[in-house]
Amino acid sequence: MKGLILSGGKGTRLRPLTHTRAKQLIPVANEPVLFRVIRAIRDAGITEIGIVVGDTEPEIREAVGDGSRWGVAITYIRQSAPAGLAHAVKESLPFIGDDRFVMFLGDNVIQGGISPLIRQFAESSWNSQIVLKRVPNPSSFGVAELNADGSIKRLIEKPKNPPSDLALVGIYMFDQHIREAVHAIQPSGRGELEITDAIQWLVTQGYAVHPYVHEGWWIDTGKGVDMLTANDHVLEELKPTIAGTVDAASSVDPRVTVEAGAEIINSIVRGPTIIGEGARIVNSYVGPFTSIYHHVVIENSEIEHAIVLEHTQILNVGARIQDSLIGREAIVQHTVRRPATLQMHLGDYSQVDLP
Ligand code: G1P
Repeated sequence: MKGLILSGGKGTRLRPLTHTRAKQLIPVANEPVLFRVIRAIRDAGITEIGIVVGDTEPEIREAVGDGSRWGVAITYIRQSAPAGLAHAVKESLPFIGDDRFVMFLGDNVIQGGISPLIRQFAESSWNSQIVLKRVPNPSSFGVAELNADGSIKRLIEKPKNPPSDLALVGIYMFDQHIREAVHAIQPSGRGELEITDAIQWLVTQGYAVHPYVHEGWWIDTGKGVDMLTANDHVLEELKPTIAGTVDAASSVDPRVTVEAGAEIINSIVRGPTIIGEGARIVNSYVGPFTSIYHHVVIENSEIEHAIVLEHTQILNVGARIQDSLIGREAIVQHTVRRPATLQMHLGDYSQVDLP
């Protein structure tokens, strides 16, 4: 079996972070979402993985490399245009050949432990397996309607009046019949070749498409503000380790991970939280559900339920920073000067909420 990860897409809903970084490379609990997807596929025993890329190809290649870090071989497939998920499959057919494969959207974050599901498909006689999840807002997704016996009745992409609350999660498994399907379908209303339509084609032709209803959490980070929620979930899954240093004046609870070279000095850190490589937390409080990426400096400040990206500095901030997403190389600081104004150099699409 092979793996196919779709990692094109601009991530417009995750601006401003995605002005300067591919959305799949934004870290959740200090690991880029794309790396987590590669690990999930690798853990199912798959070693040949294709990554479909678009305009952010150079950045993705640089971050992922040849895959040897995970013990897999990566092939990059450049999609000629962002023309839909089924179009991406079409352009990946030379890589896939006649193998069965799992296709994973590179911005989907799902509860750990789905590898047995992929293995189960590898050993099954099903032509396809899809993953469904009950959601409160089905019209934002592909939606499945099931028959009374649990089989698939029909699949519709982003219906205005959803026939059920079962959304298609961005993990799909196929055999070689998807080849006919992606050639048979026509572009949708949004001008894309929809994978949902290709799977509907398989169902109509009488191929065996097995629906699996996922009970754990799932987040499509491409949908925007959900980055912090994804971070909450992944932090709760982490097995804490302390590789950095914690001085005697600090208190760090057992749900905190401190990565190599990080220093906690005279500070309180409550988990689940991760402090990245080479970060420095000095005279500060870092509260639960916070991911501090590598080489961040926090001094004389308090922060909780937040993601802070690499090389950012938070210095002498009087109020507690909460529910925040702060990009890389940013500086947030209190200064003593007159006039005592708020001074900001914010990127496009940034947001500042003052009490
Ligand atoms: C895509 C699929 C949709 C699926 C979703 C999962 O939507 O078209 O069927 O439910 O991924 O993340 P898109 O992200 O293109 O809006």
